[in-house]
Amino acid sequence: MNVSEAIRTKRAVRQFTDQPIPDDALQAILKAGQHAQSSKNVQPWRFVVVRERDTLVRLSQCGTYAGHLAGAAMGIALIMQPGYEFDIGQAAAYMQLAAWELGIGSCLATIYEPDKAKAILGVPDAWDFKYALSFGYPQPRPASATKRKTQRLPLTELVHWEHW
Ligand SMILES: Cc1cc2nc3c(=O)[nH]c(=O)nc-3n(C[C@H](O)[C@H](O)[C@H](O)COP(=O)(O)O)c2cc1C
Repeated sequence: MNVSEAIRTKRAVRQFTDQPIPDDALQAILKAGQHAQSSKNVQPWRFVVVRERDTLVRLSQCGTYAGHLAGAAMGIALIMQPGYEFDIGQAAAYMQLAAWELGIGSCLATIYEPDKAKAILGVPDAWDFKYALSFGYPQPRPASATKRKTQRLPLTELVHWEHW
């Protein structure tokens, strides 16, 4: 799969099979995050890999829409220096695309209760924990189940040329 195909076909995956993620795939995902771009190359992130079911379930209870973490083969907590939300998004996207290339689905989870989530993982006070990623092999779903929601706005609506 080339980069443009990965970008075009990647969808949020929230339901996963029980198949564990092999170590080489995990390394590829982590390296993609490691190589992401960041402002002034500060690399304002740390990644906490979570595979213990109990911890995933507890994290899934830290956000209204974080439930998919409970059934993930693996979660990665995206820990960031305060104020670097754009940067952590870059690392997340790189990791998600690297996973997709390997047939591994993923989805972001917004952490609405950061203090509770930080306590679960023992994250130091100086760091923020606002997002986590679920990863796993996708549970097969009929294409019709996701079609409407996955549509993107047309370029004619998104793009302005030379001036707004
Ligand atoms: C900043 C951000 C936060 C998100 N938070 C959640 C979340 O809390 N729960 C969730 O299920 N999906 C979350 N998502 C995933 C989006 O819902 C998903 O990317 C979007 O609906 C497009 O999905 P698609 O690529 O399958 O079309 C988040 C995505 C982003 C970029």
